[in-house]
Parts: sequence; structure tokens; C-alpha cells
Amino acid sequence: MAKTQPNRASLDKQPREVASMFDGVARRYDLTNTVISAGQDRYWRWATRRALLPRPGERVLDLAAGTGVSTRELRKSGAWCLAADFSRGMLAAGRFRAVPMVAADAMALPFGDNSFDAVTISFGLRNVADVDLALREMLRVTKPGGRLVVCEFSAPVRQPFRTIYLEYLMKALPTVARLVSSNPDAYAYLAESITQWPDQRNLARRISANGWSTVRWRNLTGGVVAVHRAYKLG
Ligand SMILES: C[S@@+](CC[C@H](N)C(=O)[O-])C[C@H]1O[C@@H](n2cnc3c(N)ncnc32)[C@H](O)[C@@H]1O
Repeated sequence: MAKTQPNRASLDKQPREVASMFDGVARRYDLTNTVISAGQDRYWRWATRRALLPRPGERVLDLAAGTGVSTRELRKSGAWCLAADFSRGMLAAGRFRAVPMVAADAMALPFGDNSFDAVTISFGLRNVADVDLALREMLRVTKPGGRLVVCEFSAPVRQPFRTIYLEYLMKALPTVARLVSSNPDAYAYLAESITQWPDQRNLARRISANGWSTVRWRNLTGGVVAVHRAYKLG
């Protein structure tokens, strides 16, 4: 009998595999997020908006926006916010949201230089095959003086919380995902990709190495998530 292929990407993050995995996750993506994060996702999105500080009249790019759930939060600011993602399934699942959406690859953005006042990416950068290229593309499309906010899973700073969290990630999370998600295999990928992702300091170094200035971060939920902010020199 043919073995069913798990619908998940490998950790080399081949763009085709990543997009297809998220197509499979799309239908119950928002609900699954809220369940596996015990409702913390709303706080993380609010904190991302606060870090970005979008203002009415500004143009904001929400990259790897998926269903537009992150964009919806940013729009509360009154800024014009564009959701961009390369999974058409994710964009389609969020079509009910009154958010402008465009299919785009973070590694080859279909926007001119200096087109946005601010660019943000929530839970997306970890999934991009070439993180450095994506950071440079974000820099290119940001206006001089503009800002970047990266919201991403990170490394809890204190024990024993760190150990408890890693146990949850590797053992409980895949089980919970099997109950809620439309593509549980993707949550094994989620757990593995989080453990391989640079911690706060190393991500800050990487952002800065790709041309961004004044990189700072703030830990959320004890460092489960970190919000990094940076500027493009004017
Ligand atoms: C975990 S979801 C995040 C969605 C949303 N930003 C949120 O906060 O819930 C990650 C998204 O990154 C997108 N993604 C990954 N690599 C990408 C790339 N190279 N270009 C555009 N989108 C990408 C996936 O398609 C997926 O929708």
C-alpha cells in the first residue's frame, strides 16, 4: 500500500513545499492559532502593532500575512495595510476580511524601491527559505527612515519555563493540532522550525547584517515570542 506523504515542509523550507503546507493549513488556521497559543496570539498581534506604530495615511506592508489575521490588527491604526503572501490557499481563506491582498514571494517582492512607510512580518520569516534575501527585499521596499517589525517565535529566557515550553512544543502541540488543525503535519514542522530558529540576540544580528539600523527587541510571554524593531537609515 502506498504510504501517505505528510503535508509538511522539510526544514530546508523549499518554497513550493512551504506554500503547499500552508494551503493545507488555511481552512482552520486562525482557530488553530488561538487554541495552540491559549489565546496569546491576540496579545502578540497587539504588541506587534504597538511596536510598528502605524499612523493614518501611511502605507504598511504585512508580509507573509496568510489569512490577513495579522493585517486586520494593523488596520486598527488607520494606516493603509496590504497583506502579501505566496500561499494562495491562505489568502483565499482570509478573503472575507476587508483587507487588500496580493500574492507575493518575500524573496522577490513585486514592489518598487521605497514604497512603504513600514514593513512587518509575523510568524513568517522563520518559514522563508532565504531569510537574508527576504530581509534585504524588505529593506529595499521600505522608505528611508521607515521601520521594520519582525514578530516571531523565540527562546524563553528563564528556567524552568523554558523546559516546560519545549516539552509542550515537541510533545503536546502535535497532539492538540491533530484535534483542531486541517493539516496537523504542519504543526510538527512548526515545533521543529521553532527549535532551529535563532534566539533574540542572533536574530537581531542577522537583521542588522542585512542593512537595518538600531535593532531592538522585546520579549513577549517570557520570550516564547520576540518582537524585533529596526529602521532603514534616512
Ligand atoms: C504562520 S503563517 C503567518 C500568517 C500571519 N502573518 C499570522 O500572523 O498569523 C506564515 C505565512 O508565511 C508565508 N510564507 C512563507 N514563506 C513565504 C515567502 N517566501 N513569501 C511569502 N509568504 C511566505 C506562508 O505562506 C504563511 O502564510
